Amino acid sequence: MASKATPPDLTITPRDRRFGRGARTERWWLGGDPVGTALYNALSATFPKGEAFFVESVRKFRDGTPPRLAGEIKAFTTQEVMHSREHVAFNRRAHEAGYDLSKLEAQVDRRLDLVRAKPPIASLAATMALEHFTAILAHELLSDPRHLGGADAETAAMWRWHAIEEIEHKGVAYDTWLHATKDWPRFKRWKVKAKVMMLVTRNFIVDRTRGSLELLRQDGIVGPRAWGRLLWFAWVRPGMLRKIFTAWASFFMPGFHPWKHDDRALIDSAEAQLRPQAEPCV
Ligand SMILES: [Fe+2]
Ligand SMILES: [Fe+2]
Repeated sequence: MASKATPPDLTITPRDRRFGRGARTERWWLGGDPVGTALYNALSATFPKGEAFFVESVRKFRDGTPPRLAGEIKAFTTQEVMHSREHVAFNRRAHEAGYDLSKLEAQVDRRLDLVRAKPPIASLAATMALEHFTAILAHELLSDPRHLGGADAETAAMWRWHAIEEIEHKGVAYDTWLHATKDWPRFKRWKVKAKVMMLVTRNFIVDRTRGSLELLRQDGIVGPRAWGRLLWFAWVRPGMLRKIFTAWASFFMPGFHPWKHDDRALIDSAEAQLRPQAEPCV
């Protein structure tokens, strides 16, 4: 059902789950494939700092928001804090499996420092764009089981749990941005959000590619072989980046809102599959 706003009956429910505690995660947890593992590990390396930045950016604009949005910001914060907690734990397991993520984390710091040096609205705009990006990645991850094909069950459950909540709170940063820029002329609003989306997309692709190549280097896979296999995985098969293109482009259309695509049915089916795999919360 097409909607131009967050559905009035949407409830954002933080699910306090823990994954893989006390367990060892195989070095190549994604189907024994170093390439897929490198890409997801590179993504996970960004989450603790990245999600803290999202929360900080949105909360700066919470004052004066309508009560419903203020409540959603609170639930969004709780979800992101728990995602960071689980990715810290996952990153520790990746470290125990032999990966050094420090270069990847330093790159995140550099990016975030650049944005933090600008006025707070720049951080909110970057968050709004990255939250759309994350939500469409999450949608694709849950839609096609090939993305996590052969993955360690507990790790796959963690990624699916994270994806569910990213879809559920996908309108929060966007609605906060709409509220913060409500007095801006329409064209200025569009121009800024389009420019920011182009920039964060470029940085996302460049940084995650570099990060994945660094992890592949730690596996002894370098040069054209590393590039070729990584590009194939990301763009061809399973081809996550190619598959999100249409959803990504929808962001630039007039009247865009993340909930124009109501994918709550996907959350329900993913949640039903998730239940038997995950550990109960502690
Ligand atoms: Fe998250
Ligand atoms: Fe998020």
